[in-house]
Amino acid sequence: MSRLCVVGTGHVGLVYGVAFALAGHSVVGVDVNATAIRTLQKGKPTFFEPGLEAALKRALKSKKVTFSEDIRAGARDAAVVFLCVGTPSRPDGSINTSYLKDAAATVGEGMRAASRYQVIAVKSTVIPGTTEGVVRPALEKASGKAAGQHFGLCVNPEFLREGSALEDATKPDRIVIGALDSRSARALRAVYRGQRSPRLATDLRTSEMIKYATNAFLATKVSFANELANLCDAFGGINVDAVVEGMGLDPRINPRFLKAGLGFGGSCFPKDVRALAAAGRARGYESRLLRSVLELNDRQPLRAIELAEQAVGSLAGKRVAILGLSFKGGSDDVRESRAIPLAKALLERGATVVGHDPEANGAFRTEVPAVETAPDVKSALARADVCIVHNDWPQWRALKAADFSGMNRKVVVDGRRILNRSAMKGVTLFVLGG
Ligand code: UGA
Repeated sequence: MSRLCVVGTGHVGLVYGVAFALAGHSVVGVDVNATAIRTLQKGKPTFFEPGLEAALKRALKSKKVTFSEDIRAGARDAAVVFLCVGTPSRPDGSINTSYLKDAAATVGEGMRAASRYQVIAVKSTVIPGTTEGVVRPALEKASGKAAGQHFGLCVNPEFLREGSALEDATKPDRIVIGALDSRSARALRAVYRGQRSPRLATDLRTSEMIKYATNAFLATKVSFANELANLCDAFGGINVDAVVEGMGLDPRINPRFLKAGLGFGGSCFPKDVRALAAAGRARGYESRLLRSVLELNDRQPLRAIELAEQAVGSLAGKRVAILGLSFKGGSDDVRESRAIPLAKALLERGATVVGHDPEANGAFRTEVPAVETAPDVKSALARADVCIVHNDWPQWRALKAADFSGMNRKVVVDGRRILNRSAMKGVTLFVLGG
C-alpha cells in the first residue's frame, strides 16, 4: 500500500482521497482552504454526495486518511501526489490553469525535501499539452528536480459522476494512465493494484484528450437526444423515449445518455466542451460539431418557455414555478444548471419565478436572487400559472394531479419527461419530446 497525497479536496480530490483510504492506502488530503480542511477533519464533507459522509467517517476512524493545509509536507512525504484542483472556464471558454500551476509549484517545493522517487499524477481536467507545458515546468522549477529522472509524471483522468462518485472511484469502468515514461506508469499502476477495471496506457497528451473526448461525446449524445425531442415535437405524435429505446437496442448506439431534457449542465460537460472547442480554435481548427452541441444546449431551456407559451400566451405577469433547480436530480450542485438560464429568461419575459429543489434552494438563490424559493412542492405551486419540471429528482415521478391543485391554472411543462402521465388527469400537461 502506498502513501498518497491528494491536492485539492473538492468533488474529485475528496472522493478519491476517501476511496484510496478505504482501499488501504495512507492518504493525506491537502487544500489551501483552511475552513474546508477543518470541516473535513470533523468528518463532514464540504458538498453533498450520497454515501460520502459515512465513507469519510469510516476512513477517518481507520486513520487511513488525514487532512491538512500543509501542502508542502503532504507532497514531501508521499510516494504519489494527485493533483485534483479545479481548472475553471475563462470568458472565452478556455481553461484557467493558474490554480493547477500554483498547486504544482507548492508540491514542487515539498518535493525538494524528499529523497525518494515520487510520482505526480494530474487528475484535473486539462487540455492536451498542459501537463508537459504547465505542470512539468512548475514542478521542475520549484523542486530543482527533473521529470523522468528524479520524479515521475502521469495524467490519470477521472470519470466520476456526481451522485455515484464513490462507486465510480472504487469500481471505475476503466483506468486510464498517461505517463511520461514506463517508470512513472509502473508506480501509478501500483496504486490501482487492487482494482480489476480495464486499463489503458498512453502518453500524457492522449490521456488528457481521452477525458475531453469522453465528455464531449456524452454531451453530444445528450444534445442529440434533445434535438430528437425537438424534432418529435415538430412532427407531433412521436414519443422520443420510444425512439431512443429503438435506437438504443443497436449495440453500436446503446441507450445510455440519450434521455432528452432541457439541456446538460454541471461543472463538467459545458465547461469541457467549451474548453475543447476553444483549444481547437486557438490551434486553427473550428469544431462545427462542438459549436452546434453548445448552441443547442444554450437554446434548449427555452423550449420549456415555448411550450408554456403555447398554453398561456405571454408569460408577462404570470407566476411560474420551476421544480428542480440543481443541474440534475440527486445533487445540490447548481453549477451551469439549465434552471439558471431558464429562470433568467422567464424573468426577462416579466414572469414571477418561484423555484423548489430538495437540496439546492440556497445555492440557486445565490445564482439568481430574483427567484423566490419554496421549501416544498406545495408552496412552490401555490397560485402558479405554469409549472416547469426542470431536473430528474426521483420524487417528481410520484407527483399526482392533486399535487398541482393549488395552481392558478394547472399548466405543467415536463422538461425532463419524468412525470407519471396517467396520474395527471385534469392537468394541462406538455411533455418535451412528445
Ligand atoms: C459528468 C460525466 O458523466 C462523468 O463521467 C465525468 O467524470 C464528470 O462529468 C466530470 O467530468 O467530472 P456529471 O457532471 O456528474 O458527470 O453529470 P452527468 O450525470 O454526466 O450529467 C451531466 C448533465 O447531462 C446533467 O445536466 C444531466 O441532467 C444531463 N443528462 C445526462 C441528460 O440531460 N440526459 C442524459 O441522458 C444524461
